Amino acid sequence: MKIDVLLGLQWGDEGKGKLIDVLAPKYDVIARFQGGPNAGHTLEFDGIKHVLHTIPSGIFREGKINIIGNGVVIDPVTFKREADALLKLGVDVKKRLWISRKAHLIMPSHRLLDAASEAAKGKTKIGSTLKGIGPAYMDKTGRNGLRVGDLERTDFKEVFSALLQKHAELLRFYDYRNNTPEELEEWLQGAEVLKQMTLIDGEYEINELLRSGKRILAEGAQGSLLDIDFGSYPFVTSSSTITAGACTGLGISPSQIGEVFGVFKAYCTRVGSGPFPTELEDATGELLRKNGNEFGSTTGRARRCGWLDLPALKYSIMLNGVTQLMMMKPDVLSGMDELKVCTAYNVHGKITERVPFDVVSNVPVPEYQVVKGWSENITAAKTVNDFPKQLTDYVQMIEKNVNVPISIVSVGPDRTQTLMR
Ligand code: GDP
Ligand code: IMO
Ligand code: MG
Repeated sequence: MKIDVLLGLQWGDEGKGKLIDVLAPKYDVIARFQGGPNAGHTLEFDGIKHVLHTIPSGIFREGKINIIGNGVVIDPVTFKREADALLKLGVDVKKRLWISRKAHLIMPSHRLLDAASEAAKGKTKIGSTLKGIGPAYMDKTGRNGLRVGDLERTDFKEVFSALLQKHAELLRFYDYRNNTPEELEEWLQGAEVLKQMTLIDGEYEINELLRSGKRILAEGAQGSLLDIDFGSYPFVTSSSTITAGACTGLGISPSQIGEVFGVFKAYCTRVGSGPFPTELEDATGELLRKNGNEFGSTTGRARRCGWLDLPALKYSIMLNGVTQLMMMKPDVLSGMDELKVCTAYNVHGKITERVPFDVVSNVPVPEYQVVKGWSENITAAKTVNDFPKQLTDYVQMIEKNVNVPISIVSVGPDRTQTLMR
């Protein structure tokens, strides 16, 4: 058996959570491989709308195992909140969720360090979600971090205090406040709940599950254009958001990767700072934001909106080895007379399809192709045959350009609004 991977090809919020929930019945295991509570994955079904941050999006499906892999960073406070909310909805989290002992812990001080670092950057701030992601991964790669498995150590309180002490010095350097006793208490309560979960040696368990023929779907967070190596550095997140991240974030080999499902919106959005070549800072951008309800699932911030960017999409497809594309939210484009699609960049007068090294100080200027829009509301479409011709043309134009089939088109946020091609 191979592991299929589902991930975002743009700047996050493509609709990954919805699709994981839709595809979960075909799998035995759903495994998150990177990121942390900076993610907000929205699921809608039976009139319920639910946003998940750390817990994988297969959690609502009975009989499935959900795994939080070693590549993820976990904040016990948000974890407890999430688990409590699911318990209220009758979801037996303890039964359905396994957590890798090697996943790193987001310390209460990591959140403060995130805020202090952003404040110190001023105008050049990343626009982080302030969930402590950057500092937690810094401690991981700096070899100072604490992991979920450390909660089982008898001397946990001591190592926890020692790291807090180190962070207190850093916070002093930033002239930033320290954690309150209440914050520390809340964190320790969350850590206790986390410790009671099924903790596993994830790499062994996942390989064992594979050997025994179980079907596994790896769930990505963020998007390829926010990848620590290939995103618009430094305006990125701190983890490997691409397919390769599924290997290091779960403990599987590259030869075990099967299908790679690349999720993209029919247009583009971005939250936080950083270059966005096709951004629309006008009434059209406003319309996309309003029709697409483009406000962050985690922070509530307004998402920046713009046209579809094919050079960026091709870049992501290349990095991830995407085998199938899944297009989300074309319903948001209904009612627009014409749409623009960026097919190349103009970089210092040179037309190129490559994403240049320096996209930050020299944002590429898009070369647009104009295509016809459609007026029909498509949210009730039952098959892709119900689509207006212009939408079918739009889908085919993208497929032709990027040379990967689009196997799913989503026409609304609900589970049922998912059409196979
Ligand atoms: P994720 O982070 O990739 O899981 O995506 P988010 O949940 O942050 O953002 C996607 C948003 O779009 C959520 O509010 C979804 O409910 C919504 N959504 C997903 N697919 C569609 C779709 O096809 N059409 C519309 N209109 N909304 C969608
Ligand atoms: P999902 O999984 C959209 C963005 C932040 C910021 C940058 C760095 O829901 O698609 P961080 O907190 O990671 O240090 O912030 O990355 N960002 C996201 N944008 N969706 C996400 O996750 C994101 N996670 C982080 O807005 O620009
Ligand atoms: Mg999201």
